[in-house]
This record gives sequence, structure tokens and C-alpha cells, in this order.
Amino acid sequence: MIDDQQLTAAGNEISDSFVAAQRQSNNTLAALQANPQWYTMLTGDRPTGRLHLGHYFGSIRERVAMQNLGVNTNIIIADYQVITDRDTTEHIEDNVLNLVLDYLAAGIDPEKTMIFTHSAVPAENQLMLPFLSLVTEAELHRNPTVKSEMEASGHALTGLLLTYPVHQACDILFCKANVVPIGKDNLPHVEITRTIARRFNERYAAKHPVFPEPAAILSDAPEIPGLDGRKMSKSYGNSIMLGATAEQTAKLIKKSPTDSQRRITFDPINRPQISALLTTAGLVTSRDPQEIAQEIGDAGAGALKSYVITEVNRFLEPHRERRAELAKDMDVVRDILHDGNARANAIANQTLDEVRDAMGMRY
Ligand code: TRP
Repeated sequence: MIDDQQLTAAGNEISDSFVAAQRQSNNTLAALQANPQWYTMLTGDRPTGRLHLGHYFGSIRERVAMQNLGVNTNIIIADYQVITDRDTTEHIEDNVLNLVLDYLAAGIDPEKTMIFTHSAVPAENQLMLPFLSLVTEAELHRNPTVKSEMEASGHALTGLLLTYPVHQACDILFCKANVVPIGKDNLPHVEITRTIARRFNERYAAKHPVFPEPAAILSDAPEIPGLDGRKMSKSYGNSIMLGATAEQTAKLIKKSPTDSQRRITFDPINRPQISALLTTAGLVTSRDPQEIAQEIGDAGAGALKSYVITEVNRFLEPHRERRAELAKDMDVVRDILHDGNARANAIANQTLDEVRDAMGMRY
């Protein structure tokens, strides 16, 4: 958890609203840890590729921890979100099944955590209609994440890209989640979800509110850099995939760029590439990157890379073994998803009935 002092220090550089969100998130997390049984968590991933180490430390690990604390945990594989900013669903089935494999290998227990996809839960999607009536076009256009995704896509703004934050509200509210672990780019989506829940309750359900106003929990992992010091991204080829082989991982780390200074120091601003290697090593060993830097010292980048290769592969070996074992029987993996979809449908049908009741639409 990022503590208050660090936040105040950071406050000069990052926006006040982010500091407020981080504080709020810390409070929510503390409350959840004290009384996990009061919480329903929903979060998810877009099935656009494989999960990497950044996903593991940024979110998967926390999901497993919440599940094991006794929080009611739910993971959506957001397949309709794939087509918000791209015009193909190529490889989608493969991506979905591989997400399930990584979740299971990482310790998600399908008996405890519901895993499901958008496209299999019609009643969840139907919430979109009343929810869209609760937001204005101007509010949709103000969403900074939508704006930057539109710019990055290089395409015209589609109806789905403009409205997917409302669809994300459907994901969160159909199962009445009250906590939503996310990265900071998803904060505006949780904000609109709170607005929609509040407006729905005010307009249609003042006496017996249907929806909670969910709180965001921001990932507390440091922004995990890719091996080249840039953001970890599939398109940069700088990420360590959870499901890659030890050899592929070694090759990727070996060819990662470094700089010409021999002595290893941890200096994320001036030496982003060396520091990315140190951060990675620190995460997988639970050690302080500074300490690793000192230990390697004048042995240079080659020695640092050998250390990172050994430790990353050591860390990922059990995950990879479980993953390979599970992958031997993909029918079981499909069954797990079908079961999650069936449970999600039951919950979504129930919630949609409550919505119909509140709106006087039960004929
Ligand atoms: N937008 C999220 C992402 O890009 C994925 C997502 C879809 C999600 N639906 C959600 C996250 C609901 C939290 C809650 O990572």
C-alpha cells in the first residue's frame, strides 16, 4: 500500500484527484481486509493477448489474495471490449481460454471465483439500455481514457468506444460488486459506474436501492516497466509472458537493451533500462532493487541479466508447470468457463428482474 507520507510527497507531481483516489483506495482496502465477507469484487481483462508479469504483480496476485480472504470474487473476460478499438476478433477464443489457464495457474479457484465472458450473459448486456439513459453524451465525451484510446486507435470514435464505460458499469453492477480493483486508467469508468448506480436508485428505486456505489481499489504494484524501460506492452515485445518457456524468457531478457555504464545502479529516471531489470528482479525475489544493484555492482549488465533470468524463471516455474498440466485437458478449462457463465446468467437474470420491478416493467 502506498502510505500517506509518500502520497503527500508525490502530490506535487501527480494530480490531486489521483492522490484522493489513492487515499480512498487505501481506506477501502483496509476496510475489506477487516471484513472481507461484506465485499463483492468484480474486475476483469480484455482478451487481447496473453498475460505478462505486469498483470501478475499489478492485479492477478491481488485477486487471488482477495479470493482467499473470503471476498466474493468475480472475474469478467471482457470480450465485447475487444472491439471497442479494433475491428477484428481474430484469436479471441484462444485468448479467452489462455486467460482462464493463467488465472487457474496463478491460484484462482473456480469454486470460489466466478469466471465468465460478456458475450455469454445476455441479461448483463441488457442493463446497457436503462444505464445509457442515465448519462449524457457530454459526460461520455469527457472520459479521458476513451479520448486517449480513440487517439491511439487512429480510427473514428465508434459508438461502442464512446459507450463502453457504461457497459463496464453493467459488468460491475449486475453482480452488485462494491469493490473494483483497477489500474488508474480505469478510474473514470468506476466513477461513471457510481454515477449510474446513484441515478438509477434515485430515479427508480429510492425506497429500496437496487445498486451499490462501488469503490475503486487501485493496484499498489509500482508501474512495472517493460524490459526496455518503456511501459510493458505486447506491441513493444518487452514483456515477460507468464506462459512463455524458460528459454523464450532467457532470450528476451538477454536481448533487452542496456546502457554503456558498467556499474549497476538503480536510477529509474536516468537509467530506465537497467532499472527495469532491477525492478523485475526485485518483484520476483521480494527484494529491494537498490540492494540487488549494490550486490551486482561492477559485474555489469551481463551479470545482472543472468540474475534476472535465473530469478524470473525460478519464480515462474511453478506457474508454468500448473499451466502446462491444465492445458493438457482444455475440455476441463472450457467446462470451468461454462460453469462461470451459467452462474453469471443466474445472477444477471435476477438483477434484471429487480430492474424491471423498479421500473414498473414486469408485465
Ligand atoms: N477495462 C478493463 C481493462 O482494460 C477491463 C474490464 C472490463 C474491467 N470490464 C471491467 C475492469 C469491469 C474492471 C471492472 O483492463
